[in-house]
Amino acid sequence: MQTDILSPSSGHIELAAAALRRGQLVAMPTETVYGLAGHGLDTAAVAQIFAVKERPHFNPLILHLAPAIPLEKLQGWLLDLAEFTPAARERLESLCTTFWPGPLTLVLPKSAVVPDLVSSGLPTVALRVPAHPVAQALLQAVQMPLAAPSANRFGRISPTSAQAVYAELSGRIPYILDGGNCSVGLESTVLKLSPEGIPTLLRPGGIPVETLEAHLGLRIRLPADWANASTHSEGLESPGQLRSHYAPNKPLFLLPARVLQLQPADWQPIQSQVSGHAHVGILGFARDPEKLLERLQPHFAEAILHLELLDPDPSLAAPSLFDRLRHLDEGSATLLLAEPPPLRQGLGHAIMDRLRRASTPWNPPPP
Ligand code: TXA
Ligand code: MG
Repeated sequence: MQTDILSPSSGHIELAAAALRRGQLVAMPTETVYGLAGHGLDTAAVAQIFAVKERPHFNPLILHLAPAIPLEKLQGWLLDLAEFTPAARERLESLCTTFWPGPLTLVLPKSAVVPDLVSSGLPTVALRVPAHPVAQALLQAVQMPLAAPSANRFGRISPTSAQAVYAELSGRIPYILDGGNCSVGLESTVLKLSPEGIPTLLRPGGIPVETLEAHLGLRIRLPADWANASTHSEGLESPGQLRSHYAPNKPLFLLPARVLQLQPADWQPIQSQVSGHAHVGILGFARDPEKLLERLQPHFAEAILHLELLDPDPSLAAPSLFDRLRHLDEGSATLLLAEPPPLRQGLGHAIMDRLRRASTPWNPPPP
């Protein structure tokens, strides 16, 4: 199959909408990452999404909606809020009006209209209203919910440009709508709301958890599996939260601290991991490479270093994170090291989550 990258003209939006109505798949830009979209209420189209992505069926999809669909309409259609208390409903209403359109996904009890394949058999469905104008134009044109996981093959780095989608999925889908580089660069925050109105964070993402807590005036619960995310899906509150995810093809090791803060004792395990690699890629959070290189070079006398820099400010780093990782993956380095982000607030929390999942455990024990 030939894959065409389309500019987002109104003619091309119509072309993409017609393909979606026929049950075909289209990659669409969103403000977070590109999505692999299909008709969200058509089981055959949804099955194709899983096949094209090589995604296991236990990992449910997000349904994307056009802006300004009132909660009452969702209640009689995709959602079953019968068990929701009035206070929970009010909390839901205020989350929707404040954060939609935008990078917040809400997990809520689903109605029978939503295919079980979308929700992987769970009684809930994930909903999100994207803020990207091209996604909104497409959703308005198709007039139906679009199921859309990130447009990468399963477990790999999420795409934040049309070219990155092409590298992942060319030959597997007919169209990619080109909406430029994603402005947020990290997937949406996934929040589950119980019928009692209790929120649980299932995935940190584009809306910082502190922002949600300030809006709701309460602390948000983290799922029990949070601290040591599993390599298996059983028992996870959000089945997509696997330990290994967003991963480059090459081994990536997360440094125990920022390069300038590494202690002499920290270097020994790093050097033994790196030994034998002639080219080493490093993802750093700095505006100026000089200091980093000065500190790194004495420890890697034998290796050629390929440094990729991200801004220390997490909201400026996030839009480039996946692109820089992809760059390192495509370069000549055979082993990658990443600094942890300097700030664990705001988007720093989500960046750390992605780097943790992209990385390989240190010194794997002998088999
Ligand atoms: O920003 C985003 O959310 C992007 C863009 C394309 O919108 N989409 C995205 O989709 O990241 P995906 O499929 O890569 O991630 C969806 C996440 C997974 O972690 C999945 O397990 C979780 O949402 N999820 C979906 N439905 C759920 C449900 N019913 N209960 C719990 N978690 C759910
Ligand atoms: Mg994904």
